[in-house]
Amino acid sequence: MTASLHALEDFARQIRGECHNRTPEYAQLQAFGEHLKKICLASNFDLSQFQLAGPGKEFMYPLSEDPAGGPSVYLVSDGVGVNTPPHDHRTWAVIVGLSGIEFHVFYHCADDHIRKVKECAVASGDVLVMTDSDIHAIDATRGIHPTWHVHLYGRSQARLPSFASRCYPTKE
Ligand SMILES: [Fe+2]
Repeated sequence: MTASLHALEDFARQIRGECHNRTPEYAQLQAFGEHLKKICLASNFDLSQFQLAGPGKEFMYPLSEDPAGGPSVYLVSDGVGVNTPPHDHRTWAVIVGLSGIEFHVFYHCADDHIRKVKECAVASGDVLVMTDSDIHAIDATRGIHPTWHVHLYGRSQARLPSFASRCYPTKE
């Protein structure tokens, strides 16, 4: 494991301690994002062992996954043309951009359907914080380059309900 991945592992352990049996406040999530950004943008953050996603592909590499199901960190690469439909996470999330742009679309759910409320682009050095009630989609069809982003979730992906069960139909 490289020095930078060791730093990430130490940070993830620290978060697991701080978040044990409680949900962090929004300001604390922002602080997590700034700390994560510092680690990810350090010159020794080495991604050479991971493969960047080609067109239409989507890769998610666990960088530090909590076997107990708590806070976990993943490296995500979306290839050009990948569209992740509206979904929730059932937990909080912090995203840091490394390269390429993730185009996020946020939705509000009411009366059995969702409607778009805002959009944001997450590029290198940007931090995005989401609470467990947020519904979002990632539209990589707008990108012209594949992305590298680091995603920190309050729960490990292995312990979440299936992705399909967390998706929302869009109104035609
Ligand atoms: Fe998501």
